[in-house]
Amino acid sequence: KKLAVFVSGGGSNFRSIHEATVEGRVKGDIVVLVTNKSGCGGAEYARASGIPVILFPKTKETEGLSPTDLVSALRKFEVDFILLAGYLKLIPAELIQAYPRSILNIHPSLLPAFGGKDYYGMKVHKAVIASGARYSGPTIHFVDEHYDTGRILAQKAVPVLANDTAEVLAARVLHEEHQLYVEATAALCEDLSSEVEKTQMYTAEGN
Ligand code: GRF
Repeated sequence: KKLAVFVSGGGSNFRSIHEATVEGRVKGDIVVLVTNKSGCGGAEYARASGIPVILFPKTKETEGLSPTDLVSALRKFEVDFILLAGYLKLIPAELIQAYPRSILNIHPSLLPAFGGKDYYGMKVHKAVIASGARYSGPTIHFVDEHYDTGRILAQKAVPVLANDTAEVLAARVLHEEHQLYVEATAALCEDLSSEVEKTQMYTAEGN
C-alpha cells in the first residue's frame, strides 16, 4: 500500500511509522509527506529520507497547494491511505470525499474525551490532569469533516499518575502512540496482502 503522512511538527509518529515500513513491519511505503510547515522536524526528516514533501494548504505566508491540486498530487503518487500525525489543520471536505474511509488521525486522549479543536498539544494533557481522570491514552480514528469525531479504530489506556505534569503524561502517551499507530497502519495495509499470502499458500500446497 502507498501511504501519505501529514505533519505539522516534530513528526515522531511519522518517524516510527517510516521505520516500520523500512523494516517490513508495515507492508506499505510512505510515498509523500504533506505539511503546512516546511521547516518542521517532520519535513526535515522526510527530506533527509528522500521522501517528497508537499506544502499544504496555501496561505498568505506559504505557497501551498489548493485542495484540488493536493488531491491530484496524491492521485499521481497513487496514495491508498492518508495518516495524519500531528497535522494541526482541518482536512477539507474535498480530500475526505476523494479518500473515503482512508484517512486516519491520532489524538493523544481517549476520545470522545478531550477532543475537538480546542484540545491540541499540551492543552489536552493539562485538561486530563485537571479533570482528575485516572487514565488517558491515544485514540486512532477515521477522519471526517470535524475535529476528532470520526469512527474510532484503536485506543490504548495509559495511567495518569499522581504528580504527573502535562509533559510527563504527554511523553508516556506519545510512547504508546508510536506503537499503536504502527499496529493500526500495519492492519490497514494487511487487508490485501493477507489475500495475496493466502493465494500463495494455496499455490504452494497445490504444488
Ligand atoms: C501527537 O501527540 C499526536 O497525538 C497529536 O500530535 C502529536 C504529534 O507528535 N495529534 P509527533 O509530531 O508525531 O511527534
